[in-house]
Amino acid sequence: MNVDDIKKIAVLGAGAMGHGIAMVALMAGYNVVLRDIKQEFVDKGVKAMQEEFDKFYVSKGKLTEEEVAKMMNEQLTTAVDMKDAASDIDFSIEAVPEIMKIKKEVFGDLDKYAPEHAILASNTSMMSITEIAKATNRPDKVVGMHWFNPPTRMQLIEVIKGEKTSEETMQVTYDLSKKLGKVPIRVEKDVTGFIVNRISAPANALLGALLDKGDVSPEAVDALLMSVGQPMGAYLLMDYVGLDISCETLKYCAETLSSDYEPSKVISDLISKGQLGMKTGKGIYDWSQGRPKIDESKSAEAAEKFDPMEPVAVQINEAVKLLEQDVVKNPDDIDTAVKLGLNMPMGPFDMLGMFEDLKGLLESLAKKYNKKIFEPTKTIKEGKLKELLESRRR
Ligand SMILES: NC(=O)c1ccc[n+]([C@@H]2O[C@H](COP(=O)([O-])OP(=O)(O)OC[C@H]3O[C@@H](n4cnc5c(N)ncnc54)[C@H](O)[C@@H]3O)[C@@H](O)[C@H]2O)c1
Repeated sequence: MNVDDIKKIAVLGAGAMGHGIAMVALMAGYNVVLRDIKQEFVDKGVKAMQEEFDKFYVSKGKLTEEEVAKMMNEQLTTAVDMKDAASDIDFSIEAVPEIMKIKKEVFGDLDKYAPEHAILASNTSMMSITEIAKATNRPDKVVGMHWFNPPTRMQLIEVIKGEKTSEETMQVTYDLSKKLGKVPIRVEKDVTGFIVNRISAPANALLGALLDKGDVSPEAVDALLMSVGQPMGAYLLMDYVGLDISCETLKYCAETLSSDYEPSKVISDLISKGQLGMKTGKGIYDWSQGRPKIDESKSAEAAEKFDPMEPVAVQINEAVKLLEQDVVKNPDDIDTAVKLGLNMPMGPFDMLGMFEDLKGLLESLAKKYNKKIFEPTKTIKEGKLKELLESRRR
């Protein structure tokens, strides 16, 4: 199949990601069928699409009301029944909850009803594409297509090769991402978290361990991080995303990578008290009066206990592991993915020059927190990082 053969796309799940992905596909001219398990969920998704088209496109003069109405009336259909959704599609993008059992059920059903040529993509944030593909009889046509939130505004799509994904499926998904106006990055191996979430995981584990040590306040750490140019404090961001989500991610890393990723005790306790962050009004911070203001004068307090380059060091270490394992060929792709996926001004390798002794810092973190995941990886240990980066950039 060629990307030009794609005329109709199914989006499965009309939630936070699904409705946004459907908007992007409509704007690129595709026919879209949006499917959820109940009519009320479908209706909620369609309503969210209409509201966002009005707020971010019509009122800003990017689209006219007529253009939006035409897309919504002529290109968009909806479904609850999988057979109705899948019978005449060329490509599907699954955005149902991050639970393997549900994903497998959806892929099993899709495989039953979608035409033989159709490619089945998953927007999973972390989970194994190879495992999801096992629910189908077409694992060569199952691929990861990891979008970022909100899909209308974030440019990055990670295109992930499962063990059995064919090169043709990778290429069509890559080309489709471009036609949707996005920047695709190829992930050559199906590893937990792919690029962006994988690299963020050790930094989150580090911030959790720091919280558990309890000798510096989260606000002081956030003040310090913001004073060195981070747009939002790390703990504030965890609250913003939802502590339950960040905890689930770390749990999945603990199951699939190393028990060093076990979520922080302080955060687990907050979750068990129902304090999940912004959405419940309380988390690490109190959100009951709106977004908490970080007192930037507290940064000095944290500086004695915490070096703001520590999370960057463990991210670089993880990024090098991805190169060593041939998950990504070119280090520039990792920098691009992190910049676009996390809205950061620089990627991990762009920041290498800021370290005098990366290996020493990683060794001290591994010791301080008793976590092997922070130990310098082979290339860094052997002092060969520069050579590796140069050889891969050629
Ligand atoms: N929210 C994010 O920031 C983000 C970013 C990237 C990727 N993702 C991934 O995207 C996926 C969806 O996340 P979300 O935040 O949109 O979740 P969500 O909970 O907002 O939406 C999920 C939707 O799927 C529906 N659903 C449940 N079972 C279904 C089924 N069998 N068939 C069709 N629809 C079904 C639900 O009713 C709901 O409307 C997850 O895998 C998540 O990890 C999320």
